[in-house]
Amino acid sequence: MASTPDKTLNGKVAFVGGASRNLGGLISTTLGAEGALVAVHYNSDSSRAKAEDVAAQINAGPGEAFALQGDLTQVSEVERVFNETVNRFGKLDYSINTAGMVLKKPLTEITEEEYDRMFAVNSKAAFFVMREAARRIEDGGKIINVVTSLLAAYTGLYSTYAGSKAPVEHFTRALSKELYGRNISVNTIAPGPMDTSFFYPAEDDGAVAFHKSSAMNGELTKIEDIVPWVRFLLTDGWWANGQTLLLNGGYTTR
Ligand SMILES: NC(=O)c1ccc[n+]([C@@H]2O[C@H](COP(=O)([O-])OP(=O)(O)OC[C@H]3O[C@@H](n4cnc5c(N)ncnc54)[C@H](OP(=O)(O)O)[C@@H]3O)[C@@H](O)[C@H]2O)c1
Repeated sequence: MASTPDKTLNGKVAFVGGASRNLGGLISTTLGAEGALVAVHYNSDSSRAKAEDVAAQINAGPGEAFALQGDLTQVSEVERVFNETVNRFGKLDYSINTAGMVLKKPLTEITEEEYDRMFAVNSKAAFFVMREAARRIEDGGKIINVVTSLLAAYTGLYSTYAGSKAPVEHFTRALSKELYGRNISVNTIAPGPMDTSFFYPAEDDGAVAFHKSSAMNGELTKIEDIVPWVRFLLTDGWWANGQTLLLNGGYTTR
């Protein structure tokens, strides 16, 4: 059996998927501020400058970082970004993947292309990020995925979004079990509707008001309220394993 993992972030190597801004950006800078070495992943050319800013912020403190691009729906790209991370920092301790895509639309109007795209980003990319992380990760490492609190909602219009995030729960259960004996935990966090640039384009004013009214204090979920849970899972919360954590101010429960 592996020994109990040490609970410090200093010197740990993290791959953070979708890290140019919002949730992935704050996760990256939070880890970097405690001395972690962070591969700040981004996908779109338009995210490059922001990802480089995140890396620069980390390099200005005790941590170390570099920005790296990759379309995580391509398995060869997933392999490459993990290889680059290990080549740069010598090992891998944490993989935290925040990459995702939302579509709010009646099921009857969803095209084959939209369906394939949603499952490519939310299911396929999540799966192969987990696979490549697990192939490289140190004993005592941590793998964290991000889904949505809509997995616990009875609602229309998010069929491909919630539907393509749902398999990640099962990937999480399977991989966490397969890694028994090495003290590697695999968990998935499921935020409520978060106050980020991801959320607003899919929602009109009435829907924003409804989402706000559905949680404590009439507020959306803030990334600042999610990141401490990520930090906890990487440190003192290491005993959580195979779980989906709904973090949403009571927006949905099960
Ligand atoms: N905001 C919400 O309301 C909310 C609520 C619950 C759960 N979530 C989940 O939380 C996660 C983070 O969301 P966020 O609010 O922080 O928004 P965000 O900053 O827009 O994060 C989404 C990320 O996914 C990346 N991505 C998209 N397609 C990709 C691809 N093919 N390959 C690699 N990366 C790709 C984007 O990178 P590029 O921009 O560089 O393409 C972006 O960094 C997502 O998984 C989302 O589903 C969000």
